[in-house]
Amino acid sequence: MENLPKHITIIMDGNGRWAKQRGKERIYGHIEGAESVRACCELAVEMGIEYLSLYAFSTENWNRPKDEIMGLMSLMAKSILEEKPTFQKNNIRFMVLGDRSQLSEELIGDIDKAMEETASNTGLTLIVFLSYSGKWDIRQAATRYAEDMKKGVAGEFEDYLCTKGIPDPDLLIRTSGEQRISNFLLWQCAYTEFYFTDTLWPDFRKPQLRSAIKTYASRERRFGKTSEQIK
Ligand code: IPE
Ligand code: IPE
Ligand code: MG
Repeated sequence: MENLPKHITIIMDGNGRWAKQRGKERIYGHIEGAESVRACCELAVEMGIEYLSLYAFSTENWNRPKDEIMGLMSLMAKSILEEKPTFQKNNIRFMVLGDRSQLSEELIGDIDKAMEETASNTGLTLIVFLSYSGKWDIRQAATRYAEDMKKGVAGEFEDYLCTKGIPDPDLLIRTSGEQRISNFLLWQCAYTEFYFTDTLWPDFRKPQLRSAIKTYASRERRFGKTSEQIK
């Protein structure tokens, strides 16, 4: 395939509905969703995608019932520990980005350990956005930017966002039929191609990701120029 996206980002949505359809608790949807994460990572590695990022938990998701939040956080910790050998085997650099102020010390420890251990891997960069929101990111960046401005040492604004050094997403996928950004990468998605699918996240596996990539590959990105200019 030509025109592969360098950075694919996914708003993994529909776990709750997937579970409800089966008469199960929401957490079963999240557990099954973790299998989709594994499958999508595998395909990304196979296809030589450079960056795969996943919206796992938004700032607003802290407003969910306590037991669901606890379930999600322990699933996160469990997944990190379980997947670490796969990260090493597949040369995956693992990162977690977001507002850490509400995360437990223990989870932060697990995250940092996994990030340090995989920091020198040179294959796929896998980014999990946890306790992240676009407005949070822009706000924290603006605060630090203003401080550096006062000192006269401010650099590029982009470099203050928590995604510093990561190329903007080429393709954003949102599952479950919702067509909104839900406070995700507001700055970074300025020229991202959007792909919406009705498939619920736990059903989104390799064939579905392949279809999304194929659709992306057929699009013409113009970045404000005319079609003639970019040919
Ligand atoms: C996405 O699935 C996972 C998170 C937001 C944590 P949801 O839990 O939002 O599932 P629905 O949208 O209720 O079906
Ligand atoms: C967006 O899903 C956040 C994540 C997938 C982590 P939500 O389910 O929280 O979004 P809304 O509330 O439907 O917009
Ligand atoms: Mg949802």
